Amino acid sequence: MMKPRTPYYSYDSALLDRTLACALEASRVIPGAHIHYAVKANSNPDMVGRIAAAGFGADCVSDGEIRLALQCGIPAGEIVFAGVGKTDAQMEYALDAGIFCFNVESVQELEILAGIASSKGTKAGIALRLNPDIRAHTDSNISTGTSESKFGIDRQDVPKAIELIRSNASLEFRGLHFHIGSQILDMRDFVEQCQFMNRMNELFTSEGMKPSVMNVGGGLGVDYEHPARHPIPDFKAYFDTYAENLHLLEGQEFHCELGRSLVAQCGSLVCTCLFVKEGRSRRFLIIDAGMNDLVRPALYGARHRIENLSNPDGESTLYDVVGPICETTDCFGHDVQLPFARRGDTIAILSAGAYGESMASTYNSRPLPQAVMENQ
Ligand code: LLP
Repeated sequence: MMKPRTPYYSYDSALLDRTLACALEASRVIPGAHIHYAVKANSNPDMVGRIAAAGFGADCVSDGEIRLALQCGIPAGEIVFAGVGKTDAQMEYALDAGIFCFNVESVQELEILAGIASSKGTKAGIALRLNPDIRAHTDSNISTGTSESKFGIDRQDVPKAIELIRSNASLEFRGLHFHIGSQILDMRDFVEQCQFMNRMNELFTSEGMKPSVMNVGGGLGVDYEHPARHPIPDFKAYFDTYAENLHLLEGQEFHCELGRSLVAQCGSLVCTCLFVKEGRSRRFLIIDAGMNDLVRPALYGARHRIENLSNPDGESTLYDVVGPICETTDCFGHDVQLPFARRGDTIAILSAGAYGESMASTYNSRPLPQAVMENQ
């Protein structure tokens, strides 16, 4: 197969297939579990198509993502739609498409959605996204469950939400939704989430509104430091934690929204060493990929493992691996221990399958990175 010009994303389809199979296998500990793939993690149509073919649903945050999920073969009845800022047009589109459920994030959104559904003479399936006020052990930039975060409905607004659902025939209550953050590796965070969910489940059930769906969101993290050691995340720990700690009532369905854990380890950003610059105090390895291609390091200080594919066994030295963008934060790592690099060497940035290509931009008027599926 012809490889594109660097920088490009390379996806390992065999690893993706194995990852999907492992997630499905581990989820069987909860009978009837539904996994909605969080499309934002990687919206490459070849990736989404493969995930659809494996039987996953979709978690979408825009009409564009819903359209893509449908085009890739995910049935409307397996699509959920989240987001704090859904526009009227997006709500209309999602209603017309017949998606399974809106994960509603505020009382006002509930009112507006009820009005739109009613004017269309249809019903909107809804789940309430509740803010559990939990601080997950992850980067504060990707923690979403605290009371300071914009996500979800605060506990104090629950009675108002219940009243609205009761009084609006165009709202069909499906259940409760939660998501406490991303790149979570400490299962105790999910245990804490379960305890809150159990309390909310009891509360809604006692109000005569038993949820039929308990959606736990996503968040399972991956090993960015040693992707070769852990190419497949610990789905067993994740699903076992929910099986043990989430008390589902008779007839309730378990739903989750995995993004990163399904795709991160399946992708690398392949680039080329343009120059090695010996600065006065640092040695720079200048690559042809920049923060526009992979923004996670610049945006969150995230670290991805970097390898020199052209000289894997060479003697190693310390580099600051930087891109060509006119920003100081355009840096993939300070003091990265790497085999000796030469102009023209192929450099790979690993674990870039999630929030890599999907967050790429054309900053500095650069083209978007291309992508290839390998190992088919
Ligand atoms: N469900 C909801 C409601 C979400 O907001 C997210 C991610 C997911 C599911 C999927 O979470 P995951 O399984 O991927 O952790 N760009 C950041 C991550 C942002 C996550 C946004 N929400 C990064 O590169 O780390």
